[in-house]
Amino acid sequence: MKILLTGGAGYIGSHTAIELIQSGHNVVIMDDLSNSSAEVIRRIEDITKTTIPFVKADVRDKAALEEVFANQQIDAVIHFAGFKAVGESVAKPLEYYDNNLVSSLVLLETMQKHHVNKIVFSSSATVYGNPESLPLTEESPTGQGITNPYGQTKFMIEQILQDAAVANPELEVSILRYFNPIGAHPTALIGEVPNGAPANLIPYLTQTAIGIREQLAVFGDDYNTPDGSPIRDYIDIVDLARAHVEAVRRLVERQATEPLEVFNLGTGRGVSVLELIRTFEEATGVRVPYQIVGRREGDIEQVWADPARANRVLGWTARTPLSETLRNAWKWQQRQG
Ligand code: NAD
Ligand code: WQD
Repeated sequence: MKILLTGGAGYIGSHTAIELIQSGHNVVIMDDLSNSSAEVIRRIEDITKTTIPFVKADVRDKAALEEVFANQQIDAVIHFAGFKAVGESVAKPLEYYDNNLVSSLVLLETMQKHHVNKIVFSSSATVYGNPESLPLTEESPTGQGITNPYGQTKFMIEQILQDAAVANPELEVSILRYFNPIGAHPTALIGEVPNGAPANLIPYLTQTAIGIREQLAVFGDDYNTPDGSPIRDYIDIVDLARAHVEAVRRLVERQATEPLEVFNLGTGRGVSVLELIRTFEEATGVRVPYQIVGRREGDIEQVWADPARANRVLGWTARTPLSETLRNAWKWQQRQG
C-alpha cells in the first residue's frame, strides 16, 4: 500500500515511516519542514535502505496537495502535520487554528476529490481535559477543560472528522489519541528535536543530563499523588509508531466496524516525574540535577490511558520497558551533543 504521511519528517511521522516501510508499505512524505529538516528524510532512507518520495510543501497549499494525489496512487493518509507546542499556541492562537484546522480541511477536501477515503489522525490525550476518573477510556468525556488553543484544535479536528464521516459514507477514520510519546529510534539516527529550550520533560531532562541545562525544574511536588509529583503515561515512540501500522492495516483490510474509530495509545501505567528521573538515572548511570519548583500553569495532576481497545482491536500493545526507552532517549541526546 502507498501511504501519504503529512508531517512525515517530524518526530512521530519519521518513526512511523520506518515502521511502515519495514512492514512492506510504500510511503510518500509531505512536510513543509517548519519544525523539521530534510536531513530526517535522508536518515529514514539510511535506516530503511529505500528512497522516499518527498514533497516539501505546506498541506494548506491546495495546488501542491493536488499534485501529490494526481501523481501518486495514494491508498491511505496519516495526518501528522500541525503545530504542537502548547505554550506557543497560547501566544499565537490564530497561527495554530489556521495551520491545524486549515491543513485538515484542505486535506479532507482533496482526499474526497481523489476518492482516497482512509485517514488516520494524530490526536492527543489533551482532548480529555482534566480527567474526572482514571484511567481514561475512549468514552471518557472530551472537550471540557482544555486549557490551550493547541488542545482545542485537536478537539475541533476530531469534530470535523466526525461530521465528514457522517456526510461521506465512503470515508473511514481512525483517530489515535497519543498520551506522552518519548524516546528515540534505537539506531539513534532520529529522535525528537526540540525547538529552542525544550518545554517537554524528556528533552529537558536529557539536555540537563548532558550539561546543556544546569538543572531540571520539577514542576511541583504538592500534588495528590504518592510522591507529590504529577503522573503521566509515557509511551515509547517506536511502540507508538507501530500502532499506526496496525491502524492503517485495519482500514486497508476494511475491518473497521464504524466509519470512525478512536484509540487511546498509551501503556496503561502512570509514572510520576520523580519516578521517571530515578528510572533514567538507574538506566543510564547518569545523574540528573533537579530542583522542585512551583506548579506549571495549566498542568494536570495525573493522567493515564486505558489502552484496552487498542490492545484488543488493533492487536497492539506498548511493550518497550521504560528503562529502554530512556536509554534510547539518552543515546539520541549523546549523538546530538
Ligand atoms: P513535529 O512537529 O515533530 O512534526 C510535525 C511535522 O509537521 C513537522 O515536521 C512540521 O514541519 C510539519 N508541519 C507542520 N505544519 C505543516 C503544514 N501545514 N504542512 C506541512 N507540514 C507541516 O510533531 P510530532 O511530535 O511528530 O507530532 C505529530 C502530530 O502528533 C502532531 O499533529 C501533534 O499535534 C500530534 N501529537 C503529538 C504529541 C507529542 O507529544 N509529540 C502528542 C499528541 C499528539
Ligand atoms: C510532562 C510532566 C510536567 C517539563 C504535553 C501536552 C500534551 C501532549 C504531550 C501533544 C508534567 C513535568 C515538564 C519540565 C517538569 N502533546 N515537567 N519539568 O504537559 O504532560 O503534555 O505534551 O498533544 O498535549 O500538553 O508533557 O512533557 O510537558 O510534561 O516537571 O521542565 O513533566 O509538569 O507533569 P505534558 P510535558
